[in-house]
Amino acid sequence: MENSVVMVTGGAGFVGSHLVESLLNNGNKVYVFDVIPLEQARNLHEVRNHENLHYFVGDLRKQEDIEQFWQKDASVIFHLASVVGIRHYIADPLSLVDIVVIGTRHILTAAAKYNTKVVFSSTSEIYGKNPEVPWSEESDRVLGPTYVDRWSYATSKAVCEHMLYGMKKQCGLPFVIVRFFNVYGPRQNPDFVVSQSIYKAMRGEQPLLYDDGKTTRCFTFVEDIVRGLMLVAGSPEANGQAFNLGNSVEVNMRYVIETILEKTCSKSGYQEFNTGKEYGKQYEDIIRRIPKVEKAEERLGWRAEIQLEEGLLRTIDWVRENQWWLEQGESVKG
Ligand SMILES: NC(=O)c1ccc[n+]([C@@H]2O[C@H](COP(=O)([O-])OP(=O)(O)OC[C@H]3O[C@@H](n4cnc5c(N)ncnc54)[C@H](O)[C@@H]3O)[C@@H](O)[C@H]2O)c1
Repeated sequence: MENSVVMVTGGAGFVGSHLVESLLNNGNKVYVFDVIPLEQARNLHEVRNHENLHYFVGDLRKQEDIEQFWQKDASVIFHLASVVGIRHYIADPLSLVDIVVIGTRHILTAAAKYNTKVVFSSTSEIYGKNPEVPWSEESDRVLGPTYVDRWSYATSKAVCEHMLYGMKKQCGLPFVIVRFFNVYGPRQNPDFVVSQSIYKAMRGEQPLLYDDGKTTRCFTFVEDIVRGLMLVAGSPEANGQAFNLGNSVEVNMRYVIETILEKTCSKSGYQEFNTGKEYGKQYEDIIRRIPKVEKAEERLGWRAEIQLEEGLLRTIDWVRENQWWLEQGESVKG
């Protein structure tokens, strides 16, 4: 993706800011839409004065904001803006549904009007608690009851995917769905398991070891994700398809926490955290979350290249050079 006009929603966020930087480095003219004003968008600090960065403050829930922002000559919109993080789904599932479902509907209406390709960031959560791992893009979605708020995120993202397939049928809208698996890396808000554990360890606090550390995940470094986003945007073969973007290496959380403690040279140890006791039925954690990665590999030539140990080191090195990140408040326990 080079020398094009591109739009990014959620460009002030974690993944979005890395994507924006990469797009700018490749000579693209980048139009960002986010609800956070640029002065407060710490993640875009390094590029905020870049001549090819154009920033628009707006709310996805307002169609008029999206209409004003839209660039008719853009080749693609990366739609990343969303509510992210389990505490939000539990605290306010209605806002989550509004922002993800209504917001995405607004984006798709504009995209259909101007025939702009949409790259939609979906999630591994979409497969819910399907015990048959690894999950291929065709795997079933196995979700819990609707009174358990944590499923509002997976359900909302799935509704967006349905809208995309529907739009393709109705008006031939070009799109690609990418389902991320546990992204981590520099600048991630310290609300998520890797970022929070690094944050705590580097402040001399104790990272939390959830439920004895038996849960496993496939952590994907943000740089791999950005490469995947650029690839799908430029690949005609990806059109109308969904792709898992995830690392195929499964690690348990005990290993992750111990590696973080070791690499940060922390002596604090960890604190046991029982999710059932703290969150009750609302939590419903997914024990194993593993992608099948063959589709992205065969059709796009994409594979996660940065393994956890290297990604952790790179994140920790970045934190050492960016003390502001350690000085921000941690907004959540657990
Ligand atoms: N980080 C992960 O591990 C992960 C995993 C799976 C999927 N995803 C998806 O990737 C995308 C990016 O995630 P992230 O980790 O960068 O999240 P993030 O929270 O860092 O970024 C999301 C951005 O969306 C913006 N936003 C929220 N509500 C908005 C609204 N109403 N109008 C306009 N902007 C709004 C926020 O201000 C923020 O800058 C999301 O769509 C998320 O669902 C992320």
